[in-house]
Amino acid sequence: MNEFSPGKKYIREAQHLPPSVHPGVVQWNCPSNIALVKYWGKKEEQVPLNPSISFVLRRSITHITVGYEPAAEHKTAKTTLLFNGREEPEIKKRMDSYLESIGKYMPFLEHLRLKIETSNTFPHAAGIASSASGFGAIALALVDIENRLSGNTIPENTFSKASFLARLGSGSACRSVYGGFSLWGKVTQMKGSSDFYAVPLNDLIHKNFQHYRDSILLVSSASKPVSSSTGHQMMNGHPFLETRVNQAKKNILNLIDIIKSGDTGSFARLVENEALTLHAMMMSGNPGYILMKEGTIEVISRIRDFRKRTTIPLCFTLDAGANVHLLYPEETETMIRKFVDDELVYFCEENKVIHDEVGEGPVKIEPVNLSDNETAGRRKVSI
Ligand code: PMV
Repeated sequence: MNEFSPGKKYIREAQHLPPSVHPGVVQWNCPSNIALVKYWGKKEEQVPLNPSISFVLRRSITHITVGYEPAAEHKTAKTTLLFNGREEPEIKKRMDSYLESIGKYMPFLEHLRLKIETSNTFPHAAGIASSASGFGAIALALVDIENRLSGNTIPENTFSKASFLARLGSGSACRSVYGGFSLWGKVTQMKGSSDFYAVPLNDLIHKNFQHYRDSILLVSSASKPVSSSTGHQMMNGHPFLETRVNQAKKNILNLIDIIKSGDTGSFARLVENEALTLHAMMMSGNPGYILMKEGTIEVISRIRDFRKRTTIPLCFTLDAGANVHLLYPEETETMIRKFVDDELVYFCEENKVIHDEVGEGPVKIEPVNLSDNETAGRRKVSI
C-alpha cells in the first residue's frame, strides 16, 4: 500500500503570521552525513527509489543564523544571504527557489524578511555533502521560527518536520537532522519509517558503531562531469533499476542486523558493496560515466590489502565523487592514522585528509536555555 505524505497535514496546520511579530534570530549547527546504504534515484518530490541509511558526522557542520522580521505589507519575503560572510549569487538562487518550493508548508514565510548567514566547518569539494548539512540547517531554523511564531510549546514532530522540509532541498539532507544513524525510506519491517522524512535509529546501534571513525581522503576537488541530480534522473529507465532497488532493500535489513549486533567485518563487506554498486550504476547507465579517479582505485586496493594483512575491519565508502571515506572502529584509530600517513596521503590533493566520526546531531545554539526537545542528539525516538 502506498504511504501518505504528511505534507497535506502540514499544509492544513500551517501557521499564519500572528498580528504582530517581534523580530528574532535563530541559530543552529547541523552536520553533514555519509550514507552506508546509498540513496540513488528518485521519483517526483524527492521520493527515493530505495531506502538508505547514514550516520551524521561530528565535525563537518553547517552553522546557520537566520534573522527574521515582518516584511512590509503584501510584499513577498526579501531574503539576504551571506555564505562565509560573502554574497554568493548561486547559493542565494538555490535558497530562493527552495524557500519558494516550501512556501505552501510555511505560508508565514511570505510575510517575513529573512537574513540568512551560513558557513561550513569543512572546505568546498572535500567529499562532504554540504547540501545535506546546509538544507538540514535551514530546515531546522525555519521550523524553529515557526514554533516561535505559533507560540506553542515545541511540537513532538519538530525534527521529523525539519527532515521532511530538508528532503525537499536535497534528498540526503533529511538524514542530517538527527544524531547518530538514520533511516530514510519506507521499509515495511521498520515501523515509523517513511519515504517523506528520515527517522533516527539510535536505539538500535551497538557500541562498536557508536563512535565509528570516518577519515575522508580528498582525492580530487575537480568539479564533477555529471551532477548528482542528473545521476538520480538517469536511474529512471536504468537497465538494472529493479535489481538495484531490491538489493538496497535487502542491504537495509542486513545493515540494521549488523549495526545491532556490532559485526564490523560484515559491516565492511556490505558498505563496500554499496559504494561500488553506486558507481556501477553510474558506469552502466546510458550514457555511462565514471567519477572515480586513478587515486580512488589505488586507495581502494590498498585498503583491501591492509584489511587482509592486519584483519582490522577498515573499509571504504564513496559518495557521488572521487573522494574516499575510510570507516573504522575507534580503537584502531592510531594504526589507521599511521596507515593513512604512510600509504594513502600521497593520493590526496595537497595531502588533505579530514578526520571525522559519528556525531550527536544538530544543536540549537541560541537561546542558551535548551529544552530536551530541541537537542536532536539526545532525543530518543524508537521505531
Ligand atoms: O541528496 P543528493 O541529491 O545530493 O544525493 C545524494 C546521493 C549520495 O550521496 C550519492 C548517496 C546518499 O545516500 O547520500
